Formats: sequence, structure tokens, C-alpha cells
Amino acid sequence: MPELPHASGVESLRVFGTLVLPRLLRGLILARPRMDAALAPLDMARHSCRVLAALRERYRAPAVWVHGMGGDQLIVLDAGTVTRILDGPVETYAVDTEDKWAVVGPVQPDSLLLSRGEIRAERRPFNEAVLGYGRAAHPFADHFQDVLIKELAPLFANSAFPAASYFEAFARLARRFILGDAAADDAAITDAMRALRAEGNWLNRRRWRAERTRAIADQFTARLHRYADAARPDEKSLVASFASAPCGPHTAPVGQIPHWLMAFDLPPLLSLTALTLLAGDPARQERAATDAAFRRTCILEVLRLWPPVPLLARETTETADWDGWIVPAGSTVLVPTPFHGRDPATVSDPDRFVPERWDDGAEPDPPWYAPFSRGGAECAGRDLALTLTVAALGELLRGRRFDRTTARLDPKRALPYTIRVRDLQVRMRAGSSR
Ligand code: HEM
Repeated sequence: MPELPHASGVESLRVFGTLVLPRLLRGLILARPRMDAALAPLDMARHSCRVLAALRERYRAPAVWVHGMGGDQLIVLDAGTVTRILDGPVETYAVDTEDKWAVVGPVQPDSLLLSRGEIRAERRPFNEAVLGYGRAAHPFADHFQDVLIKELAPLFANSAFPAASYFEAFARLARRFILGDAAADDAAITDAMRALRAEGNWLNRRRWRAERTRAIADQFTARLHRYADAARPDEKSLVASFASAPCGPHTAPVGQIPHWLMAFDLPPLLSLTALTLLAGDPARQERAATDAAFRRTCILEVLRLWPPVPLLARETTETADWDGWIVPAGSTVLVPTPFHGRDPATVSDPDRFVPERWDDGAEPDPPWYAPFSRGGAECAGRDLALTLTVAALGELLRGRRFDRTTARLDPKRALPYTIRVRDLQVRMRAGSSR
């Protein structure tokens, strides 16, 4: 039985230099602003996709072994193999890899993401129930939309749309939606989360910070417990719905919250990116202002172009046979989502913003589309996140139109692979487009 090919030393170095190193420098789970600003113009993600395309061309195999910091890892290079892994059994392709434990272990040790076996089997239905996975509308969708409108209202006071305030407003929204209105002003929760994520950037290897990190994590967890314990059953927050969600001895309901708080960073990033693209495209902006289904396709397209999780990692728990290629147990398998989302072999006009490609209303399911991962470990917050992101974009465009004030993200040109959303600038004006 053949073994999958190994990249040469030089090729492995190229993968490391374009795919891994920029992420390490920028920050694996919390962007370091100065590094981010310095690296963005280099657009290393574009180079990494070229390096991966060259590997595929040379080896003509579904995946190639590359030598990395933590040993050899398999990089998946064909769309069919993306689904084979992500839609495959989570028992075979375990989600809780060593690297994930190193980065987010201290902040979310009991999360679904870091679970396997029986424990995962208990935590997954709990997460699905509370987050409304697979439901057309979350039970609290209307309430969340009302709160979103109120929280965003102060941002529309003048024409220079303040991106930083938009992110702060979302941090407040996240606390209200997850922990209840009592947590609205508790910025210490968000600060603690950021401090813990900053350590995750160093894979929690700064031993001299370990004690401080543990103290922050303990206080953070105690705070989360206080909100969960105080939740009233009639309240419309995620912690209030814990009582009615399926729960077992290993579920650790409060242990799920850190991941949710962290993931709530994404709706403002995605909605602001979509807004900037629409600001350079008056016809599409007009359509997005009145058509929620189209706004959704805009977000799906932003997720194709800039998937927020650029490497999906799995660890094989048993030997796998990929049509004759043998993958040993204990292999780390990496799915590079930007590469597959922009692969000219499978995607037409891959570097352009074409939301209409998702227009037929069907849930997109081409095998290469995996911004939320896929299968049994697909993002449990997918439906809630999409609803909130689409609602936020709708609120931005309600009675307002935007113009682009930077040359960045011109929808008429090939789009970069790396963007710094905080750099995107738009100007707001009243009413419909010119
Ligand atoms: C549009 C925004 C979001 C995107 C693109 C996204 C993407 C992802 C991805 C790619 C994964 C899989 C990670 C992996 O396999 O390594 C994931 C997992 C997960 N996400 Fe999201 N996420 C988003 C928002 C959210 C939100 C808002 C929540 C909760 C409030 C959430 C909850 C989860 C949970 C619980 C998992 C773990 C699923 C499992 O392991 O079974 N996500 N997400």
C-alpha cells in the first residue's frame, strides 16, 4: 500500500515560511496589532496557496507530508479529501489535537472543541441545543435582533463609521446574549479573555506567566459561574437556556462559554468586511440593503474568501485508507481552508467577490467549502453566527449607505488573501445610494 508523498526539506520550509510562521507572528488566536499591520501588505496567505498548488502539481496526491515544528503533518490538497476527513467520523478524525490544547487548553479545557469520545457525545447535543444549530431561527433571534439594534444605534451619530466602537459594541452584545443583561458592562470578562488568548499566542509556553494565567483563568471561570447561577429561566440569554438543554455528568455547561465568547469576535469582522466590499459596489449595496437572503450570500462569500479558521486540524485515531493511500493512526491532518476556497481548479473566478454564486438559495455544500468545518464537528454556532452577522449587516444598511474611503478591497479587482479588517474604512451617508 503506498504511503502519501513527503515534501522535500525546501518545500517544507516554504510551507512553514508562508503558512505557519506568519500565523505564529501575527498571533494564533489574538492578533498582535503591530505585527498584523506589518505582515498584512506581504499577503503571505497568497504565497502559501501558491506553494500548496505547486506541491499538488508535483506530487499529484490527495495530501502531502510536510515537516513542521511539531513533527510531520499531512496537508490536504484535494477537495474530495477535505470532505473525506471533515465529513468522516469524529471518532476517526479527532478534533482535539495537541496544538489546539496548547493554544486554547487553559482558557477552554472543558469545551466541545477539546473533547472526544463519550464526553464529546454529551457536549455536542448540549451546544447544538443552546446555540440553535440546524434551526432556521434561534429561539431568541427576535430578542437578539432588538438588542443588536439598540447597541449599534450610538455608532451612527456621525459619518465616520467608527470600526473600533463596532467591535466594542459586539463585545457587549456577546456578554448580553451569552451571560445575560447583567453582564453588559462587565468588560473585565472580555479583558480576561483577551489576556488568556494572548498567552495562547505563545502556546502557553511562557512558564513565568503560568501562575498569573491560572489566576486570571480561575477568576474568569468563577465570574462565568456567577452569571450562569444567577440566570432567571424567563431571561433570553444562552445561560438561561441551560436548564432546558440535554445535559449529562460530563457536559460542563459553563465550560462551553469561553469558546462562545471568543467566537463572538467573528460576526463584526465578517459584517464589516462585507460592508466594505459593498461600499465599493453601489448596485450590490442597494440589493443587500433590502434583501436579507442576498446579505446572507454576501457573508457566505466573505467566508469563502477569508475563512477565519485557516487551518482545520484533525488527528487520526486509527489507520485510515484513502483509496489505497495509507494514513497511520496518530497523524495530524491539516485542511487549509483559504487554499480550497480559492482553488481555481474547483472555483470559478476565485479571487473576486461574487455573492451571486450562492444565489440559488440552497445551503452551499461543495466539498471544498468549509469555513465552518463540516460534518459531525461542524461549528455548532454556525446558524446563530450567520443570523447575527446577516442581521448586523442589515442594520448597518438600514437607511444608510456607505462609500469606500480606501483603495483596499476594491470588489472590481482581484482581492488579497490577507486583510486587516480594522484598517478598512468606510464613510456613511443617509438614504439610498446615489
Ligand atoms: C461566522 C462565525 C464563525 C465561524 C466562521 C466559525 C467557524 C468554526 C470552525 C471552522 C470550527 C471548527 C474548528 C475546528 O474543527 O478546528 C468551529 C467550531 C465551533 N464553533 Fe464556530 N465559528 C463561528 C462562530 C461561532 C459562534 C458565534 C459560536 C458560539 C456562540 C461558535 C461555536 C462553535 C463551537 C461550539 C464549535 C465546536 C464544534 C465541535 O467541535 O463540535 N462558533 N467554528
